Amino acid sequence: MGYVQLGYKPSKRDMVCEFSLEPANGYTARQAAEHVASESSVGTWTDVATMKPSIMRIAAKVFEIKGRWVKIAYPADLFEPGNMPQILSSIAGNIFGMKMVGNLRLESIHWPRKLMESFKGPLHGIPGVRRMLRVSKRPLTGTIVKPKVGLDEHEHAMVAYDAWSGGLDIVKDDENLSSMGFNRFEERVVETLKLRDKAERETGDRKMYMPNVTAECREMLKRARFVRDHGGEYIMVDIVTAGWSGLQTLRDENEDLKLVLHAHRAGHAAFTRNPMHGISMLVVAECSRLIGVDQIHIGTVVGKMHGSKHDVIDIGEEIEHRVIKEHGHVLSDDWRGIKPVFAVCSGGLHPGHVPKLVEILGPDIICQFGGGCHGHPKGTRSGAMAIRQAVDAAMLGIDLKEHAKDNDELRLALKKWR
Ligand code: 3PG
Ligand code: 3PG
Ligand code: MG
Repeated sequence: MGYVQLGYKPSKRDMVCEFSLEPANGYTARQAAEHVASESSVGTWTDVATMKPSIMRIAAKVFEIKGRWVKIAYPADLFEPGNMPQILSSIAGNIFGMKMVGNLRLESIHWPRKLMESFKGPLHGIPGVRRMLRVSKRPLTGTIVKPKVGLDEHEHAMVAYDAWSGGLDIVKDDENLSSMGFNRFEERVVETLKLRDKAERETGDRKMYMPNVTAECREMLKRARFVRDHGGEYIMVDIVTAGWSGLQTLRDENEDLKLVLHAHRAGHAAFTRNPMHGISMLVVAECSRLIGVDQIHIGTVVGKMHGSKHDVIDIGEEIEHRVIKEHGHVLSDDWRGIKPVFAVCSGGLHPGHVPKLVEILGPDIICQFGGGCHGHPKGTRSGAMAIRQAVDAAMLGIDLKEHAKDNDELRLALKKWR
């Protein structure tokens, strides 16, 4: 077929993908890899009379097979610049369902310059978000209003107010809260921003509210504009369920709205969790940085959700650094002018986790606590205070138990979640 050219050196203009591949029974890795390269570029299951030699110039090439690890080079002309759905329909499309393939997982992508420059990247990124919040070094702190859904607009705004007054920077909606009968989007935004202003006046600090705009695309754009028109600076979107196309449209609209875009990844584990099959979270994070989210959930290692330490660290580096050198199964990238994205750690966190998180990921993270804030024995405000105390202790390198001696809120939190 001509799709395997071991030893081929990818050109600067090639995209390179690394896959983990297990052939189905009866096939060799080479046969399966060859069909993956064919199906994801110009080929199909049989030869066709319409093929011309010139077309083979843009065929993908398998250039390395090491055990289950396979590298494929894709000429950039296979892709439409700036079209993430098309790119993923190629390199992460039909191939996962082929009978010849037992298991297949897209682990990492090296993006050629031409494709990289066809996307906008984050509008604000880490420096922009820090500037907006006027917090230069420590991790940012946030909460998710809990219960996830069920509170009405006023109750929601009050919980947010308590969290801000207690010292948190950011309050966000949960991934499954949008506009419900008992809690309408517009009214929630208006009420919550009103109390954001009050919290800012009282504390003298900047406070942010991230309403979840996830919806059908045109509705999503309307909601984003509504937030901007009512003085909001931030929105959140569920990137997996809204889809790449929805996310790109929202990012385009944001050239004008200039909001901070927070990406929740609910649903990603349906295809990222199986270590042998699917698409890695690293790839999801790379695509999100290119399109231009300002912050994205990457996992916590220590919290309630699945995600190994080295995977979470790799994702954190990929979204934050400019130059990524090839290591393990992470391919190199030069992000050039594309801004770094804030890593969000969320899911099952409480104040006792903070020092470990900072030790693993450094201070450029946003730590979010749902249960770990509102589950405090004395309620949301004390929960927020305990979180800030834990962050202060971690930044000063003071042991949490030591710091808790003079900080009652932290002491009670550590006692509950020891
Ligand atoms: C989120 O959307 O990030 C969360 O709902 C986290 O909630 P938890 O801290 O209670 O797990
Ligand atoms: C939540 O909604 O509880 C979580 O924040 C989801 O977990 P994740 O941050 O690992 O995606
Ligand atoms: Mg949630």
